[in-house]
Amino acid sequence: MSEFTVGDTDFLVDGRPVRLLSGALHYFRVHEGQWGHRLAMLRAMGLNCVETYVPWNLHEPAPGVYRDVDALGRFLDAAHAAGLWAIVRPGPYICAEWENGGLPHWVTGGLGARIRTRDEEFMGPVERWFARLLPQVVPRQFDRGGPVVMVQVENEYGSYGSDQVYLRRLARLLRAGGVRVPLFTSDGPEDHMLTGGSLDGVLATVNFGSQAREAFETLRRHRPSGPLMCMEFWCGWFDHWGGEHAVRDPLDAADALRELLECGASVNLYMAHGGTSFAGWAGANRSGGALHDGVLEPDVTSYDYDAPIDEAGRPTEKFWRFRTLLSAHTDGPLPELPPPPASLSTPATVDLTDWAPLPAVLDALGGPETETPVPPTFEQLNVDRGLVRYTVDVPGPRRPYPLTVRGLRDLAVVYVDGVRAGVVTEHEPELTEPVAGPARVDLWVESLGRVNYGPRTGEPKGITGGVLHERQYLHGVRARALRLDAFDAGVAGVPFEPVPSRSAPGLYRGTVTVSAPGDARLELPGWTRGFAWLNGFNLGRYWSAGPQPTLHVPAPTLRQGQNEIWLLELESTALPPTLSPIDF
Ligand code: GLA
Repeated sequence: MSEFTVGDTDFLVDGRPVRLLSGALHYFRVHEGQWGHRLAMLRAMGLNCVETYVPWNLHEPAPGVYRDVDALGRFLDAAHAAGLWAIVRPGPYICAEWENGGLPHWVTGGLGARIRTRDEEFMGPVERWFARLLPQVVPRQFDRGGPVVMVQVENEYGSYGSDQVYLRRLARLLRAGGVRVPLFTSDGPEDHMLTGGSLDGVLATVNFGSQAREAFETLRRHRPSGPLMCMEFWCGWFDHWGGEHAVRDPLDAADALRELLECGASVNLYMAHGGTSFAGWAGANRSGGALHDGVLEPDVTSYDYDAPIDEAGRPTEKFWRFRTLLSAHTDGPLPELPPPPASLSTPATVDLTDWAPLPAVLDALGGPETETPVPPTFEQLNVDRGLVRYTVDVPGPRRPYPLTVRGLRDLAVVYVDGVRAGVVTEHEPELTEPVAGPARVDLWVESLGRVNYGPRTGEPKGITGGVLHERQYLHGVRARALRLDAFDAGVAGVPFEPVPSRSAPGLYRGTVTVSAPGDARLELPGWTRGFAWLNGFNLGRYWSAGPQPTLHVPAPTLRQGQNEIWLLELESTALPPTLSPIDF
């Protein structure tokens, strides 16, 4: 029986020192049909290990309702088959630019600042989830002949809290669930983060993008011995809607990696391959100083991350530079790159045939209408990803006054008596034109992704304050939810009509014919904001705010011949969409 252990200076396999050359790859951000290719790319870059988080909210959509928890086990088996060790980071909080940092909306909805603490209402669901999850990990541990060499406790806890009782309980929970391989924590290389986030007797690792020597000196102040590891070497970064595409110079990244390796340390490249936050699972940040309390900055669908292996699985210049560096630390020559995935051979235009207005989509796929004195939150309506139509009456007659939405998260397209009156947001909460009464106001409120980092992690979505006319709260609010999940069962019940000649929001249905499946990009010229599905697979949110211009379409979502496409557009449309080839 082989053993993976933490020695005084190195990681050890049966007593022999080894260096972990790991790369992050989230199984939930890559189509399963392409795991093999991506894992082979990691091997070809010179890595000997893959690291993945586990997103609790993806796998437990409602209390005790589990969705494809086995995916983790299948991924670990694929990693093993590819000749890679594996590091598992099961959270329960994972950050990761993922909706709510991986915490289910039904957990965070009522807990406020009690999340990520020993509070029983948080720990209870965590315990039940780990009992369900750990059987995926336990039989695949290294000492049982599997790939799993280490398991992380929480995630950068020192950037959030100081409840050592909570952290200790999590570690005990992992042990009680059968985890035998070494546990570790990971934190920023700062004293308060390391003192808040690490645990006596548990390996501490640090996360950074440069200045390895300094970072490890800080770590050494807290841990005089033990192997050095950078658990997240940020070789790229993520993008926000409306921002610039983040780029990190490959030369600069390679220099930083060289310094890290010269320290004799192990590394996990974050990300080796980022992939895509399909199905509206991208999270959000809040800007502004240490408190991360400012403007909402929702993350784009692509998680390309400017990583060495790009969103489509292609090697970038960073890949080749890293490969050169890493090859000096591996025994024997590196494997060749796997053959590239098939690309679509020629562009294919989407033929949009049907359309349904948003209210008809809501009637067919939405939840029941509720009426309450004040607006319910998304959490109260049990919506993780999706939108809610709030309807409220302005009494009258009365003269025009400003209409304001307090505590709006995140964005609403507003209609007054059925006519589009504008868009309001959390920070621009007032309609441009005053509204006279009587009038009916419909607010189509979208969540742009739940906050995944900082003190406002887990804050609720929807209208969390109220709708005001002048200074008067408008009471008696009807609300109706459209969950993205509702589309999983298909759109057969939607009363489609022919596509209108004018641009309009609504659900569009069409077909696109391809001669053979291949990786592609979905282009939506002049479309504004919404979601796209291909053969029922949710490709994620698109938004003309950029910087992401197109949506990634993995080949396994396409089939030879005719394919069905749905587009839920919340504002306005223009030219027919197309599928374009990817150059490999
Ligand atoms: C932190 C988190 C990761 C990720 C990165 C930024 O290090 O631990 O999950 O959010 O920041 O990409």
